[in-house]
Amino acid sequence: MTPDLFENCDEGPSGREELAPGALVLRGFARPQAEGLIAEIAEISTRAPFRQMLTPGGQRMSAAMTNCGPLGWISDRHGYRYEPCDPLNGKPWPPMPASFLHLAADAAAAAGFPGFVPDACLINRYEPGTRMSLHQDRDEQDLAAPIVSVSLGLPAVFLFGGLNRSDRSDRLALMHGDVVVWGGPSRLRFHGILPMKEGTHALLGRQRINLTFRKAV
Ligand code: SIN
Ligand code: FE2
Repeated sequence: MTPDLFENCDEGPSGREELAPGALVLRGFARPQAEGLIAEIAEISTRAPFRQMLTPGGQRMSAAMTNCGPLGWISDRHGYRYEPCDPLNGKPWPPMPASFLHLAADAAAAAGFPGFVPDACLINRYEPGTRMSLHQDRDEQDLAAPIVSVSLGLPAVFLFGGLNRSDRSDRLALMHGDVVVWGGPSRLRFHGILPMKEGTHALLGRQRINLTFRKAV
């Protein structure tokens, strides 16, 4: 145990961890900007509130979601897709803050994917007990661009699997400020979030918020 590694021990160490070819975790990458990101999320959610979407099968999703940027990911009885307007009010999704764009581009570049310009940011909100089952991100037209996923608030256990649903999944703890990037040969890997444990985070209370940046078209 080196003291510098555990300097911010309640928030986890910094550094990078390779998960697979084209996939890695940038530990603590978003931590210095977290308070600004959280303020932006609060503003976005006054205009496009968090809601639990319906799956095509008619179940309510466990995590609550909203979006910002030119396109937002939605799910309803008709399926999964990207829409330019929030179906709750018919208005365009709130614009993507410049700080979000810069963070996503910087993280992608640090992971070996320069020139990433996301057109969609899905914002997932988890409370203790909620989860996200194993899935692929495959509603995007441009599979050359990576996924950039930012964790804020309560810790979560991330499942990172293979290209087939039945492949074994790695489990890794994602802490406040961690960023996961997967692209290239890992772009269609299955992933998910185990049911969230009870807890309270200094900035977000009983919540985890995940920003998922994508290039949808
Ligand atoms: C997602 O796959 O959309 C979310 C993953 C996460 O919450 O870390
Ligand atoms: Fe996903």
